Amino acid sequence: MRLELQQITKRFGSLTANDAIDLVVEPGDIHALLGENGAGKSTLMNVLYGMYQPDGGQILLDGVPQRFTGPGDALAAGIGMVHQHFMLVPVFTVAENVMLGHEWTSGPFGRLDRRTARTRVRELSEQYGLDVDPDALVADLPVGVQQRVEILKALLGEAKVLILDEPTAVLTPQEIDDLIRVMNELRSGGTSIVFITHKLREVRAIADRITVIRRGKVVGSAEPTASEAELAAMMVGRNVSLVVDKPPAAPGAVALEVRELTVADDRGQVTVDGVSFSVAGGEIVALAGVQGNGQEELVEALLGLRIPRAGAIVIEGADIAGSSISEILGRGVGFVPEDRQHDGIVGGFTVAENLVLDLYDRPDFARGLSLRLDRIADNARARVAEFDIRTPSVELPAATLSGGNQQKVVIAREMSRPLRVFIASQPTRGVDVGAQEFIHKRIVAERDNGTAVVLVSTELDEVLALADRILVMYRGRIIGELPAGASRDEVGLMMAGVPAEQAVAEAAERHSLLAEQDLLLATEGGTEGGTEGGSERASQEAQRAGSRAEGTEGDSERASQEAQGREGTEQADGSSTGDATTAPPTELDDRGGTLR
Ligand SMILES: Nc1ncnc2c1ncn2[C@@H]1O[C@H](COP(=O)(O)OP(=O)(O)O)[C@@H](O)[C@H]1O
Ligand SMILES: [Mg+2]
Repeated sequence: MRLELQQITKRFGSLTANDAIDLVVEPGDIHALLGENGAGKSTLMNVLYGMYQPDGGQILLDGVPQRFTGPGDALAAGIGMVHQHFMLVPVFTVAENVMLGHEWTSGPFGRLDRRTARTRVRELSEQYGLDVDPDALVADLPVGVQQRVEILKALLGEAKVLILDEPTAVLTPQEIDDLIRVMNELRSGGTSIVFITHKLREVRAIADRITVIRRGKVVGSAEPTASEAELAAMMVGRNVSLVVDKPPAAPGAVALEVRELTVADDRGQVTVDGVSFSVAGGEIVALAGVQGNGQEELVEALLGLRIPRAGAIVIEGADIAGSSISEILGRGVGFVPEDRQHDGIVGGFTVAENLVLDLYDRPDFARGLSLRLDRIADNARARVAEFDIRTPSVELPAATLSGGNQQKVVIAREMSRPLRVFIASQPTRGVDVGAQEFIHKRIVAERDNGTAVVLVSTELDEVLALADRILVMYRGRIIGELPAGASRDEVGLMMAGVPAEQAVAEAAERHSLLAEQDLLLATEGGTEGGTEGGSERASQEAQRAGSRAEGTEGDSERASQEAQGREGTEQADGSSTGDATTAPPTELDDRGGTLR
């Protein structure tokens, strides 16, 4: 079935989430829709799936205009969707979940009885190599299998076009391989797939065709042979350095030592189970792992947000386990919380106030009981410039800033005081690639300042790019350590519970598709985690590719020359703090909205 979206427009109040989007998905194609967080990908797919009514444009299937008043209509027309967040009932079996999906549709099977459901699950599972047992309880299934149950549900509705919204976000590299295999099976069976992602590597590994959207508009299309730099430039609207310039660490004395730490979650379950590790000043230690393996509770304990059951957290000889947050901050601990809206900023306070949130009682900013407002404002203006925080005024409530800029406020505040230990939890979640680049540079700069950095991240790319040592958490324990330069497969296997030694051996035997891409890129000139010295070549490549991409977008010559000039400066002064290099892009980035 050929799918065509013509001039789809969807507004939410004054925000145009989809602005006259054209998209053609040919039968049996895996078509990637690539765009940053907030670009409008899910909105477009929700329009296609009948969840939202478009404000303009139309959907054609095999040339015939459609009108979907709800998902039922879309399903009946042969469109299936697997959402970003699964919609399965954990206490039901696979077959029961599949039946549920069909009770509210008027699909070709009408109401399914249990026996038919089990038989169909078995048949489809075999046909597409899904490896799903109809009688398994969903709660007992690994995330990757749960996802295949969702795919099964869509197939049962005889989907000809399958929408997968960020399907890889929750998977290990090996599970991603399984998904790719299933996608290939579906494609050979004639199903077209709209594959949504913000990850460059994946589109190159999976897609037949790529459409890039930015701020609700289609900004171009690309072939899977396009370089990562080229795709990144289209996605962000300017050249982005994908390389984190990171000289080897020069670790000093141990700054943080965690001993036999045990922490329970809100339900009293032990989620951190006798964890020990230490971090020296001047190194970045990453705690990698699939979400929900105890990282969250561990960080909360380190920050005094959760009282540990047992164990010690030692900073400069003092055990701070169970201390209050302010005591811990007083010891020189800085942190970027995972949930910035909740723990990082006070949305109703101004940007300026947020920038001094835990410094307000310092003599710099307070005299007796009164705050020194002029100094607070001066401080804010300096930080806004230094950290490239995009806001019309420091007197606006922080809640009015975009997610990436809120994150920069948190980082700017935390890095404005002398730190011994810096704890960054998912520091770039929901942040655009441009801001990501900046945040990574600052984290490395903090390390090079002698701070001990703990990075907690479920993003493998981030871990591989930043870590000097990688500790992998699995079911509340640290199951092993890998050095910087470890492969994606090694870390990925450990994330699934495979011990370090075995993971290294297995990874050497069989590369996942994404890991093969890493190797390819490293030999092409290296992006993340690439060979030392490869970075300059890679950034030159990025420069060329970036201007090519903008050229194909029909962008003005000037912008691309500017972009090149800027890259040149970056290399010339060798600055890695980003201060000099990130201010100018503001203009280009903002103008980026007009690029087509
Ligand atoms: N139901 C909604 N109401 C208001 N704004 C929304 C809604 N859904 C999405 N948006 C906004 O539309 C924009 C695009 O969001 P989305 O389509 O989810 O992006 P993506 O999937 O590419 O990350 C964002 O700015 C988002 O905040
Ligand atoms: Mg989305």
